[in-house]
Amino acid sequence: MIVFAHRGASSDYPENTILAFEKAIEIGATGLELDVHKSRDNKLVIIHDEDIERTFKGKGQVCDFTLKELRKFKNRKVMFSENNKCEIPTLEEVLDLIKNEVEIVLNIELKTDVISYSEIENDVIKLVEKYNMENRIILSSFNHESIRKCKQINHNIKTGMLYYEVCDAIKMAKKINADAIHPNAQLVTKELIEECHKNNIKVNSYTVNSPIAMRKFVEWNIDGMFTDSPELLLEVVE
Ligand code: G3P
Ligand code: CA
Repeated sequence: MIVFAHRGASSDYPENTILAFEKAIEIGATGLELDVHKSRDNKLVIIHDEDIERTFKGKGQVCDFTLKELRKFKNRKVMFSENNKCEIPTLEEVLDLIKNEVEIVLNIELKTDVISYSEIENDVIKLVEKYNMENRIILSSFNHESIRKCKQINHNIKTGMLYYEVCDAIKMAKKINADAIHPNAQLVTKELIEECHKNNIKVNSYTVNSPIAMRKFVEWNIDGMFTDSPELLLEVVE
């Protein structure tokens, strides 16, 4: 069972920052999850929202700033605003961080459901290939066309189909050649997991923060959970 630190160890540290990823590794998470967008100068940057305002002191869309400009925004979490490990990182910096942590699986969520960033699938895959990390990456998205494209570009990289509404997930996953489904925790049932496993599809659910749900999903033999509290999930798994 993969314990994915959702946006890093984000219950205790600022989400999607180098600090949050480092702390997740320290805690013993076996997976990391992050969100990727593109800056105005086409750099792959790690932040959840299309807009910077919720997590950083500033206003505007990620895609309207260059990387250099994005770097200047201070983290909104007061305790961390002067910490340079809490600036907006690039995907390359995170790959650098984990390149020697060979047990860590990285889930890269392509945030292509609101803005369609040109060539983002190609650019992410090129970078993963440059680092020879194809075997420990999962590419996921709520935009299923993005997932389909990723599989076409490099069939060896695993993909996960994110969704949050009741649907025929197995049928949809097969249609886009996804290796896993990534349902919202509310949609997970024992039967769904069993059916997926019969079809050779893995199940990784988000965002699982309650120990009750964690215990239930472990009993049901889920493949992975995305949690803001990796420490708690590791305790439950033990
Ligand atoms: O990848 C799982 C989860 O991160 C998807 O939702 O909104 O937290 O990116 P969100
Ligand atoms: Ca995400």
